[in-house]
Amino acid sequence: MTIAATGDLVADAARRGTAVAALNVITLEHAEAIASAAESVGIPVIMQVSENAVRFHGGRLRPIAAAAAQVAENAGVPIAVHLDHVTDDELAEQAAAAGFSSLMYDAGALAYDENVRRTRRATQAAHETGLWVEAELGYVGGKPDAPRSAHEPGVRTDPDEAARYVESTGVDALAVAVGSSHAMTTQTARLDAGLIARLRDRVPVPLVLHGSSGVPDDELRTAVGAGIAKVNVGTALNVAMTGAVRRVLDADPNLVDPRRYLAPGREAMTAAVKHLLEVMR
Ligand code: G3H
Ligand code: ZN
Repeated sequence: MTIAATGDLVADAARRGTAVAALNVITLEHAEAIASAAESVGIPVIMQVSENAVRFHGGRLRPIAAAAAQVAENAGVPIAVHLDHVTDDELAEQAAAAGFSSLMYDAGALAYDENVRRTRRATQAAHETGLWVEAELGYVGGKPDAPRSAHEPGVRTDPDEAARYVESTGVDALAVAVGSSHAMTTQTARLDAGLIARLRDRVPVPLVLHGSSGVPDDELRTAVGAGIAKVNVGTALNVAMTGAVRRVLDADPNLVDPRRYLAPGREAMTAAVKHLLEVMR
């Protein structure tokens, strides 16, 4: 199957009143697990590679981008590949040539005017290379190595400001701060579904939920019903993978073949993604 475009998957989900899951890829096993879960449930997904993951791979975008794109292209369901949480303009400039159909430009930690200025410029440049662009207003905290934020912890996205922001920047989708936080290892976040509905009514582009690993299943269903069209999940895969790897290694101190622990790690991620897709179905 040919690789899908993020904009098409999000638009399709929004039209049907549902959401598309966007799962973070750090290793090849993440990509394989995501594709295998999507195939078994029969639902399109987005694979996303974050700027932090690129940094983990020595700052080289092409190898991890190519791996994700190849897994997507060889999957039996439509899968798109997205470059996530980009703060570096030079990285953004490489996205289209590296095979991404979209990127999230992350100026969410900045004050409003500076966020608009940087995002408008990055969006224009990205649109010239055919990319679909997501950006953040408000601030979903909790990212490791996050820049110091201009916002108070817990700040939420204001609907009127969000409408102005989308108009001023020209972005194709908006990441909103509605109660979730990045890198949570327990599902204990409480979302403001009323705020999501007000944002949906006021903002002309699809809404994106970040930090969804910390959101309980029923809250996630409610958030999608209220207007979220793209659900970003990363940490839940890592919790699953690391737990499985730790169990295998703890049970056998003599084990050295990485396939013996990466296979259960990958299976655990597949199960986590399948569960998420079933919840959002
Ligand atoms: O952009 C990626 C997501 O917001 C991932 O957040 O790791 O807390 O699920 P999470
Ligand atoms: Zn995020």
